[in-house]
Amino acid sequence: MRPLKERLIEQIRSHGPIPFEQFMAAALYDPEDGFFTSKMLRSVQSGDFLTSPEVSPLFGGTLARFVDLELSRLSFPSVGEGASAAGRAGSEGAFLVEVGAGSGSLLKPLLTTLETPVDAWAVEASPSAREALGGILPAGHVVTDLDDLPERFSGVIIANELLDNLPVALAVRAGDGWTERWVGVQDEGLVLVPVEVRPEVGEWAERFGLPAPDGGLVEVQLAAGEWLEAALKRVEAGAILVIDYGDTAENLEKRRVEGTLRTYRAHHLGPHPLDEPGETDITVDVNFTALIDQAAGLGASVEYRRQDDFLAQLGLRERMSELRYQELDLARDGDPIERLKVRSLRTEAETLLHPRGLGDFRVLVVRVDR
Ligand SMILES: C[S@@+](CC[C@H](N)C(=O)[O-])C[C@H]1O[C@@H](n2cnc3c(N)ncnc32)[C@H](O)[C@@H]1O
Repeated sequence: MRPLKERLIEQIRSHGPIPFEQFMAAALYDPEDGFFTSKMLRSVQSGDFLTSPEVSPLFGGTLARFVDLELSRLSFPSVGEGASAAGRAGSEGAFLVEVGAGSGSLLKPLLTTLETPVDAWAVEASPSAREALGGILPAGHVVTDLDDLPERFSGVIIANELLDNLPVALAVRAGDGWTERWVGVQDEGLVLVPVEVRPEVGEWAERFGLPAPDGGLVEVQLAAGEWLEAALKRVEAGAILVIDYGDTAENLEKRRVEGTLRTYRAHHLGPHPLDEPGETDITVDVNFTALIDQAAGLGASVEYRRQDDFLAQLGLRERMSELRYQELDLARDGDPIERLKVRSLRTEAETLLHPRGLGDFRVLVVRVDR
C-alpha cells in the first residue's frame, strides 16, 4: 500500500480539505500506517516517549492503593477482609480497566500490589501493545475499543496519557469569533487551510478556549469529552481516573498564542504534525475544565489534583523513606547490587513527583454512585 501521506494527499485532491481531527485520527490510528497501530510499541524506553509507569513500577504500585480505596468505598472487600481472589471475580465482581494500557507497565505492578480481587481488562488501539498485554491479562480481556467491554460494570477505569492523543479540531480566534483550520494540499505537501467554523467547534472554543488573542490557536477537544461520556456509560458505580498533561481552561490562556499541538519522536519534539503523518506522536495539552464540565453535566462528582499531591496522598513519600532506610541498611552490611536497585527505585519515584516534570501532570477522578 502507498504511504499514508500520499494517500491523504490523493484523498484531499479528489474530495477537498478534511477536518484536522480526521487527519489526526488517520495519522495516529490508520490500520496500516497509524503511529499507534503500526508495528512498534511506542511507550517504552526504546520508543518515542516515556510515561510515569515506564519510569517507575511504583506508579502502578501506588495507584493500587487508589483502586483499593475506591473499591472499598463500593463495599468490595479486600482479600484481608475475607474476599477470596476468585470469590468476587467474574461479572459480579469489581472491574479494573486500563484504557491505552501500552506495554502493561502500569497494570503489572498495580495487579501485584492490589489487595482487592478484580476482573482486570485492558483497552488498547495498538496491536503490538495488545500482544504485550495478552501476557498479563486473561484471554479475551484485552480489547481494541471501549465498546468491546462488558456493557455495565462497577469498578475503576484508568487512562494515563490517553486523552492528550484523542483527535482535536483546530479553532483560531478571529476578531470576536472563530475560524477553523482544516488540512488541504499545496504543491506536494499538506497545509492548514482556513475554513468557516463548524457550530459545535465554535461553541466548544467559546466555552473553553477564552480568553484567546487574535490569531491564537485552540485545540477543540470534543473527542476527549465523548470518550469520558462513553466511559461513564459503562460504569454502574465506581471511578474513572484520568491522568495527563494539561491544565484548567483558565491556566491554559498563555498557551493559546501558538497552541499546544505538537509531535514527539524518539523522546524529542518532532516535526510539524502535517509533515510526517504516522511517523510521530501527535498530542495536545488536555483542557481539564472541559472534562470537569462534561462529568458534572452527566451527574458525576469530580476531584482534580496535581500528580505529585495525588501520589503523595496515596503514600508514595512514605514508601520512599522506607526505601531510604533500606538503602542505608544495605550500605552498612548488604549486597551493593541490591543497594543500587533500591536506590534506583527511590530516584525513579522522585521523578514521578518532580514539580516541573511528571509531578506537574493533572489528575481527574470522576466518581459515579448509582
Ligand atoms: C502515550 S501512550 C500511554 C501508554 C500507557 N498508558 C502509559 O502510560 O505508559 C498512549 C497509549 O494509548 C493507546 N491509545 C491511543 N489512542 C487510543 C484509543 N483511542 N483507544 C485505546 N487506546 C489508545 C496507544 O496505543 C498507546 O499505547
